[in-house]
Amino acid sequence: MQRHQSTGERILTNLDHVGKDHAIYLPQDEMPDHWYNILADLPEQLPPPLDPRTLKPMSPEPLLRLFAKELVMQEVTSERFIKIPDEVYDAYLRLPRPTPMLRARRLEKFLNTPAEIYYKCEYVNPTGSHKPNTAIAQAYYNMTEGNRRVVTETGAGQWGSALAMASGLFGLKCDVYMVRASYDQKPGRRIMMEAMGANVVASPSKKTTFGRNILESDPNNSGSLGMAISEAIEDCIFHEDTRYCLGSVLNHVLLHQTVIGLEAKKQLEMADVQPDVICGCIGGGSNFAGFAYPFMADKLKGKSPTKFIACETKAVPSTTRGVYTYDFGDTAEMTPLLKMYTIGHKYQPPPIHAGGLRYHGKAPSLCYLINKGYVSSVAYSQTEVFEAARILAQTEGMITAPETAHVVKCAMDEALNCKKTGEKKVIAFNNCGHGLLDLEAYDAFINGRLEDYEPDHIDTPNLVP
Ligand SMILES: Cc1ncc(COP(=O)(O)O)c(C=O)c1O
Repeated sequence: MQRHQSTGERILTNLDHVGKDHAIYLPQDEMPDHWYNILADLPEQLPPPLDPRTLKPMSPEPLLRLFAKELVMQEVTSERFIKIPDEVYDAYLRLPRPTPMLRARRLEKFLNTPAEIYYKCEYVNPTGSHKPNTAIAQAYYNMTEGNRRVVTETGAGQWGSALAMASGLFGLKCDVYMVRASYDQKPGRRIMMEAMGANVVASPSKKTTFGRNILESDPNNSGSLGMAISEAIEDCIFHEDTRYCLGSVLNHVLLHQTVIGLEAKKQLEMADVQPDVICGCIGGGSNFAGFAYPFMADKLKGKSPTKFIACETKAVPSTTRGVYTYDFGDTAEMTPLLKMYTIGHKYQPPPIHAGGLRYHGKAPSLCYLINKGYVSSVAYSQTEVFEAARILAQTEGMITAPETAHVVKCAMDEALNCKKTGEKKVIAFNNCGHGLLDLEAYDAFINGRLEDYEPDHIDTPNLVP
């Protein structure tokens, strides 16, 4: 067993590199008051969701039983900017937003790179990730439409915590199906959700027919986001007062997250820099999209040479080893078919600590941009990302979530590349979550107990000829 040594002594000897311009704050009265919808600027229409029975494009009507009406409208609209409702805007200000953009000068110094590294601090809110940006909006629309209860799935627990918090703000009941692997690994997250008033159950659970069927054939099944989504949808369908909320993948979720990138654009302008590289980790694609799409708008117009990199886990390599095809969004085949990079909705992800990256597919708009070459993607194993995250912790004093560790590795690799080439690139990444409730994962890494996983073989779906 290899114990991973501290890097501390090597970096604390000289602090003269720590400049004054290391934190860029956007005043609260400059927080964007609209979300940005990338569907307005794509070169062509996205391949539509298909009805799995007919394989014909599906109309949005059946979604009204699952989602608040306004969210269904946002799912299909091609309006470029959508006004943030006042109550949502007010709740954003109290998170608080805008979040700071930091320059990682100590990390730059440690890497001895000519590159400039910036990161957007989406972990600065009570639940610790970007997820409240959409949770608040989704809870708000459900409240205004008279729905009393929301139900959802959660992987690592960040999304569940955000929806639990937002449900409290808008007076809704909240039930969360938490993937068993994370439920066992992260009791702190379950407790946080319960403290905020949500009911949490490990998925697969005995609460749904789908969950019971899985447990019958495999009582120790560690679950997956695909399974938890199926359970939450089944629960929603059987309770009239309930609507389902999703933490990623769909257009309206990505839309709400664009407040991140709209702020980030203003902040980099304040620092008088243009990003050469924009990167983010991808589970379903929402934090990446939220950060990147406002910058992507310029690239789609041919106005920007920025390189975009999406980072996933080698344990669930949807975009790096999957195929771009139609697949179900969940394991029980209850969702419409979505065109995306997928490794198959039956894929059983290994129990890596980055629970939020254990999803077989990715957001259709992101997959389209990857397929057309606007975004490149890269996959890492968990040991190498924890190595990077530990360097960030020791240089910048910030412990990232295991999911976020993937983008830290990517930003560091890009900066090290600059060291070789001598290029002074500006690298910006979305620091989308803290890992203060993931410390056992750091413990496993430090004490050499982390295992890396990679599927030998992937059965890709072939549902649409
Ligand atoms: C901290 C964090 N980052 C990233 C993700 C991945 O999701 P997405 O790709 O939608 O941002 C999650 C999902 O739970 C998360 O909790």
